[in-house]
Amino acid sequence: MTMTPRLRKFLLTAHVSFSVGWLGAVAVFLAHALAGLTSESPEIVRAAYLAMSLSVWLVIVPSNVGTLVTGLVQSLGTSWGLFKHYWVLVKFLLTIAGTILLFVHTQPIDYLAGIASERFISNSEMLGLRFQLVADAVAAFLLLVATTAISVYKPWGLTGYGLRKQREGQSEVILSRPPRKSWEPYVLIALGILVVLFVVVHLLGGGLGGH
Ligand code: HEM
Repeated sequence: MTMTPRLRKFLLTAHVSFSVGWLGAVAVFLAHALAGLTSESPEIVRAAYLAMSLSVWLVIVPSNVGTLVTGLVQSLGTSWGLFKHYWVLVKFLLTIAGTILLFVHTQPIDYLAGIASERFISNSEMLGLRFQLVADAVAAFLLLVATTAISVYKPWGLTGYGLRKQREGQSEVILSRPPRKSWEPYVLIALGILVVLFVVVHLLGGGLGGH
């Protein structure tokens, strides 16, 4: 199924708004998590954890779901496909990882917001959990910046499946194959480190804060 140019532009506008909106909301979440962990003012600590729960459910989760849905529709409705180009496939895997991280961590965020809605949180309380939320926000922020960069640069060319499709005479695929550059393996390594960081922060979270 190929979309009309008008529908494609509409979906791309929605996709970029959701995805870059997700990045912006995570930046605000990171600022709140840092304030919640480091501020000397009990009022600011309390306000930060209340705001984090609000921003997760009212902005971050809808932006995440919107990005994934519009991304999938775009992939299946344009000649990009979902498995033909590495840049789309890597974005898909990174977004799935980001979604898992998000939904696993909504519980500790709501737990802290629940306490903050009842009373002040002292500086020494639940430090492991509060630190873990900062680490998760940093990991999510880096992941989203990497995904945005991949969307603009579109590196790494066609997958094996994409090459096969190309050979089967899908003429559109030929236009999109950029020549391979020498820096790509480094980006792949950086992405690999990012994913490992992701997992380590998550496992540490189990050790330090527990959820
Ligand atoms: C946080 C995650 C994501 C971000 C930040 C993001 C960002 C973007 C951006 C900025 C563009 C425009 C690129 C351009 O026009 O040069 C784009 C296009 C696109 N994205 Fe994403 N994206 C994300 C997730 C996804 C996912 C999960 C998929 C697929 C499942 C996807 C599929 C696509 C496709 C197919 C296009 C090209 C659309 C077209 O040419 O009409 N994206 N994305």
